[in-house]
Amino acid sequence: MSLIERLQAAKGGASQSAGTSQSSDSSVVVPAISAPADNTSGDSPSATLGVRLTAQIAAEAEARLTENEPTHGSVRASQALRELKEKATEELFERVGSRITDSSLSEIDLADFVRGELRTVVSEQQVPLTSSERDRLIDEIMDDVLGLGPIQRYIDDPSVTEVMVNRADQVYVERHGQLFATETTFTSEEQLRRVIDRIVSRVGRRIDESSPLVDARLADGSRVNAIIPPLAVNGAALTIRKFSREALSVEKLIQLGTLNPEMAELMQACVEARMNVIVSGGTGTGKTTLLNVLSGYIPRSERIVTIEDAVELQLQQDHVIRLESRPPNIEGRGAITIRDLVRNSLRMRPDRIVVGEVRGGETLDMLQAMNTGHDGSLSTVHANSPRDAIARLETLVLMAGMDLPLRAIREQVASAVNLIVQLTRLRDGTRRVTHVTEVQGMEGDVVTLQDAFVFDFGAGIDANGRFLGKPVPTGVRPRFTERFADLGIKISPSIFGLQAGKR
Ligand SMILES: Nc1ncnc2c1ncn2[C@@H]1O[C@H](COP(=O)(O)OP(=O)(O)OP(=O)(O)O)[C@@H](O)[C@H]1O
Ligand SMILES: [Mg+2]
Repeated sequence: MSLIERLQAAKGGASQSAGTSQSSDSSVVVPAISAPADNTSGDSPSATLGVRLTAQIAAEAEARLTENEPTHGSVRASQALRELKEKATEELFERVGSRITDSSLSEIDLADFVRGELRTVVSEQQVPLTSSERDRLIDEIMDDVLGLGPIQRYIDDPSVTEVMVNRADQVYVERHGQLFATETTFTSEEQLRRVIDRIVSRVGRRIDESSPLVDARLADGSRVNAIIPPLAVNGAALTIRKFSREALSVEKLIQLGTLNPEMAELMQACVEARMNVIVSGGTGTGKTTLLNVLSGYIPRSERIVTIEDAVELQLQQDHVIRLESRPPNIEGRGAITIRDLVRNSLRMRPDRIVVGEVRGGETLDMLQAMNTGHDGSLSTVHANSPRDAIARLETLVLMAGMDLPLRAIREQVASAVNLIVQLTRLRDGTRRVTHVTEVQGMEGDVVTLQDAFVFDFGAGIDANGRFLGKPVPTGVRPRFTERFADLGIKISPSIFGLQAGKR
């Protein structure tokens, strides 16, 4: 029986309707509604407000069941549901009062408490909802009150890796590396702002006109950026990079086609041989993920210091010290930069320094460290090719403000960095290593680079638009591999090209 029919039945006679409903759907809850005995339809001007609202709620519930086909009715109905939600939320706040911000309650206890109160509030609303509809309504209100409102479901959905709210009425998500527009909207800019406030206040930060952008992390480690007007011209924008509970393993990266086993073998040997490795790539290409995999190759006996803006790396070793930079406080003081942490880490007797990403003057300190005994360090840089990565590192060194001649900087870069691994997100949404490149040194004024592996773009794409190419060895063996034998590190000679041509 449809909800509209149930409603009509409810209007026709309580005892009869209850009987009918229960026989067809035992979970239907039909509260006693004082409806007029005539057969007035909910849309008729003579219907009482209560009947019209109830009919709208029914239509809304129907519409939710056929969510992907928006109709005229569903627009009207969503308005009704919104009203019901608002009313229930308001009453919930009245009942719960200040306990909602009571920090002595754990998240779980608070959620249990609020859910219990909400059940009472919703059942008092006297609307004909099935128990699953009621549960869903309760979930939605819980998400609004304690969670992240309409986007909470994407946070809970493991197939979503990124949630992007461009403005209150436009939400995109990333699934399997590709962006999708969703039907989800916030009811208003205020609702979006409330969600943003909830996120930032939980981490002791604030966002307002005087400091309109914030980087924060959710309790589960997901990374959040929020920016509000006047900087965000169309209204507040929120970006959430979800924290993957399980960091992608090297096996998984191979399975995804990001790497091949030969590359993985070379990278492992490089990390064990204390080469300095830079992972380069654009935004969201998987730099941090690959850095995490590379860090996994650091021998357990070594002392590792990791330095990040917001901790993301998940090292499995025991002997690890994790450092995180700190933004300035409300008075604009107390900032601790990545650069401060890199310098500090040198006094911590590290065997390896892993810097989440270099994006400023810390690059100079990191390169110096790499050149002066802290070899085997790893980091990432935002660049679109290995050549671009070199140029970017040079620019970042200039940001240290030391007024060094370009030639000196270039030499510093060329001698510090041994290997650049370039990641690219291809049009088909896959992330691939497109270059594994050795930094050989300088020739005249130019840093010499030699690719060991490149992605074979020539292989074309399949019917689904997926790239068919694989990484292929160029046949050139990196010079630094000569040191591997001395260090007792074995790599199969075939990986550099005996298989060249085989795809
Ligand atoms: N090889 C891969 N294949 C598919 N998905 C991946 C791969 N590597 C990473 N991801 C996913 O892509 C997203 C971005 O990954 P990651 O944070 O490592 O990128 P990033 O380059 O460090 O991003 P940013 O530039 O924002 O720092 C994550 O959701 C991650 O799980
Ligand atoms: Mg990253």
